[in-house]
Amino acid sequence: MKAGQANRNDRKPFGSGTAFTIAIDGPAAAGKGSISRAIAAHYGLAHLDTGLLYRAVGAQVLSGSDPLRAAENLTVDDLQADGLRSAEVSQAAADVAVMPEVRAELLEFQRRFARWEGGAVLDGRDIGTVIVPQAEVKLFVTANADVRADRRFKELVASGAETTFEQVLQDVIARDARDSSRATAPMAAAEDAVLIDTSELSLSAAIAQAIAAIDKDFPDEKS
Ligand code: C5P
Repeated sequence: MKAGQANRNDRKPFGSGTAFTIAIDGPAAAGKGSISRAIAAHYGLAHLDTGLLYRAVGAQVLSGSDPLRAAENLTVDDLQADGLRSAEVSQAAADVAVMPEVRAELLEFQRRFARWEGGAVLDGRDIGTVIVPQAEVKLFVTANADVRADRRFKELVASGAETTFEQVLQDVIARDARDSSRATAPMAAAEDAVLIDTSELSLSAAIAQAIAAIDKDFPDEKS
């Protein structure tokens, strides 16, 4: 990813000992995106949805690009492209996410974002295990596959996509398997991650659990 394109590159990194990173990992449609945005707003932190990096590379591969070239030339503007949430791009993202060279290319951007001034929330699959294992707070947000498929199905139908619950469930299960079994940076909870199971939680209850976990470690001057 082009270093000069980092949207926070005009800001100074934290001084030593003052960086604060919240790493939020978990499978698709567990609620980590909504929780991450809410947490970032609550604490006034920057937020990076790292899935968008893989989605943007996947979308470019669907248009005929070479995966590594696409990752090397990725810009922040590419993360705003239309259609990045489609089922086709989701699959393409999971396909490029197994490629070690693509992951290596995207790693430095994520690390720099994580340690920049003001603190940051990053959500993805390998944030607490590979990208920022020293993150001050790690959450692993999950839910059972039926609940996640139901959420994703409703989102897709609302956006006008034609699909069935069964199809979405199969996609969720296949993507989980792929993300958890890949050799490089598989989806996994860090040993010291706080687990939040949203299967039976409302979004506001899940956010409250996340805030309770973060508050324990959040620096005083920021709370
Ligand atoms: O989170 P989201 O569903 O947008 O991610 C799309 C895909 O990108 C995931 O299925 C996964 O394969 C990949 N990904 C990843 N590591 C991350 C974030 C996403 O491998 N940190």
